[in-house]
Amino acid sequence: MKLIYAKDYNDLSRKAANILSAQVILHPRAVLGLATGSSPIGTYKQLIEWNKKQDVDFSKVTTVNLDEYVGLDPSNEQSYRYFMDNNFFNHININKANTNVPNGMAVDIEEECKRYDALINSIGGIDMQLLGIGNNGHIAFNEPDEAFEKTTHKVSLKPETIEANKRFFNNISDVPIFAITMGIKSIMQARSIVLIVNSNDKYDILKQSLFGPVTPSVPASILQMHSNLTVIYCCDKEL
Ligand code: GLP
Repeated sequence: MKLIYAKDYNDLSRKAANILSAQVILHPRAVLGLATGSSPIGTYKQLIEWNKKQDVDFSKVTTVNLDEYVGLDPSNEQSYRYFMDNNFFNHININKANTNVPNGMAVDIEEECKRYDALINSIGGIDMQLLGIGNNGHIAFNEPDEAFEKTTHKVSLKPETIEANKRFFNNISDVPIFAITMGIKSIMQARSIVLIVNSNDKYDILKQSLFGPVTPSVPASILQMHSNLTVIYCCDKEL
């Protein structure tokens, strides 16, 4: 595990963007696993800037996103497809057909989960996975549980996750209660993982995840088992 301390959010975003762009420069056909949430926004902004300067080229890149709310269609501003289009894809030279987000509007959610896993396999898995962490230690929408869920699945969001994510919605009652999330196996099979953490509030859960017991009650703790994990964090104290 590589632990990189960033002095502020801008520094964190530039460091993460540097690592992602190095991946794309070295492997122009890279498969990037991407995340939503407030943490990666600065990383995407930096990558957009470098793409506009032609320092990094996304034309051959494929992306797979971690998760999507069930019941929100891509035109809904709170859907993760909308987030990705507006915060990243619409501003870079990526082929939109090569960007993938689970379909939260699928009639058969179980089928959609299977389709998503098959898709990840068919593109050869993920070269580099960008991750954030939830306040309760969730990664993607893999919530604390009694076992690690391996494959893409439908999840009931925990009250604390709904509470944390309500800031993006007008009303807490508008926050979907279900999501589709990539499973722990697909995340752990990524050849490299970059976890970004930008908040003092997440210091304790990050410490527990990286140095505490590996347990499904702290989903991010599984990342300790990954052989190529980079953690970039910005908190008042160093770990
Ligand atoms: C959501 C996403 C996660 C993300 C988490 C933290 O729950 N499903 O992938 O890591 O939010 O988000 P933020 O970066 O806004 O704290």
